[in-house]
Amino acid sequence: KEIVAYAKERFIEVIPEIELPGHAVAVLAAYPQYSCTGGPFDVRHVWGVSDDIFCAGNDSTFSFIEDIIAEVAPLFESEYFHIGGDEAPKVRWEKCPKCQARIAELGIKGDAEHSPEEQLQSYFIKRVEKMLLAHGKKMIGWDEILEGGLAPSATVMSWRGEKGGIAAANMGHDVIMTPGEWLYFDHYQCDPKVYPVAFGGYTPLSKTYGYNPVPQELAQSRHHYIQGVQANIWTEYMYNEDQVENRIYPRILALSEIAWSALAKKDYPDFLRRLDNQRVRLDMHDINYYIPIAEQDSVPSCDFIAFTHDATLKFKTTEPVKIVYTTDGSEPVIESAEYKDSLLFEVNTTLKLRSILASGKMGDIRTITLERQKYAPATEKTNVVNKGLKAEYYKGLARKISDIDQSNPIETEYVSVPENIKYQVHRYDEPTQDDYYSTVLTGYINIPENDVYYFSSLADEVWIDDKLLISNEGEVKRNARNDKSIALAKGYHKIKMVRLSATFGGMPPLWYGASISIRASGDKDFEVMDESYFK
Ligand code: ACM
Ligand code: ZN
Repeated sequence: KEIVAYAKERFIEVIPEIELPGHAVAVLAAYPQYSCTGGPFDVRHVWGVSDDIFCAGNDSTFSFIEDIIAEVAPLFESEYFHIGGDEAPKVRWEKCPKCQARIAELGIKGDAEHSPEEQLQSYFIKRVEKMLLAHGKKMIGWDEILEGGLAPSATVMSWRGEKGGIAAANMGHDVIMTPGEWLYFDHYQCDPKVYPVAFGGYTPLSKTYGYNPVPQELAQSRHHYIQGVQANIWTEYMYNEDQVENRIYPRILALSEIAWSALAKKDYPDFLRRLDNQRVRLDMHDINYYIPIAEQDSVPSCDFIAFTHDATLKFKTTEPVKIVYTTDGSEPVIESAEYKDSLLFEVNTTLKLRSILASGKMGDIRTITLERQKYAPATEKTNVVNKGLKAEYYKGLARKISDIDQSNPIETEYVSVPENIKYQVHRYDEPTQDDYYSTVLTGYINIPENDVYYFSSLADEVWIDDKLLISNEGEVKRNARNDKSIALAKGYHKIKMVRLSATFGGMPPLWYGASISIRASGDKDFEVMDESYFK
């Protein structure tokens, strides 16, 4: 009530979303009788999509949901009510006698496009729609509610691209466009290598601004069904409010314009010009908006650049801003040298860069270490048996390298690539105590020629030639941010990788195996190191 009133004073209408039939483990933990299996369940500690959803065969599930709607609906003044409907796996319904009895009772047969269980979801949503209508509310659902037949009065939120929105509009339903590619603000807005960990994707400001919510393929006569847009800001990779603000702003300014300006009036250069003023307003509200960061041009950014003779670095930013830099270790300020075209380095240097906005406000400092190296000599390979990498496993939770006793593995085997290590957990399943195993991998990598190589991994540590190269200790293991380069001579080099077993920032590394990627100095992209490197 307080939130609704606070928002209303500011001309904002809050629409609730009560998620069903999926994303409901927190409910099922308290009320396991509304699940298919009866539980017990624990509230999830990690992000993800759970197989356990509301049981569609149980009438008491529906009276429970009806009670919730009856209690929640009056709190909100909006005529709309969002019921979710997304990401509801059907594996429990396929096995559940009650759900299967419901399918039989309803005579649901499935068809070429939809399984009986997807059609059962349609039944579920339509039943909830009736409850909402009885409370004078219009139902919104994610585009999965199209599966198996749309509820008659539903408004569809198209999130998995625009397809669902187009289909719904063609069926005469209202649509809210929120496709991930343009409107998911949990996506990166710059090079992931220079930004705190985020979900993924790449949605810089220009991309959001360029979105037209009325799809070209939609006939003119259907355009009015596109009611508007929504951006989503799922916070599973946002650990404080500053990060939330940083991902919302300034992209939400572009959202306003694609929602409220006629297409013919859109003008990105003019938007950028106005953005300078908007940023000053945001400063007055103390909002932590994203300030473009100097990114390396044409290659993934890296904060540790090895070179053998010299190195030329080129930078860009996602929006045109001035970049200043220093090479003497001092903090760059407005008066520092301005970056123009490229920078050439021939000696060890600490390069510090930052953006300067038109207002004079300065962005965060990016520090790059440049190190002149000789090619590290190759070594003799001593495990001549070519078994790949030795994998040593350590049972239990380990949050820090020092939490494992590396002299005392409980199990050892050989794997052809790091991805094949034994202890992994199916993506999005919550690890149990018994699942936690740390891994130490040791062996050799075969380097094809003398060059500077960049390495990227989510392993907690990567050692090459007995020297620590990459440390990701404490990082959320999602997108590697601590890449490093090293000059290596052709031939064999020792490698060691450590993958700790714990949950960091809600994400278990156990979901992602333990790969390592390599990029030679002249290459534009990393490639995952396959078994040819470890032979
Ligand atoms: C969604 O992002 N699962 C709607
Ligand atoms: Zn069931």
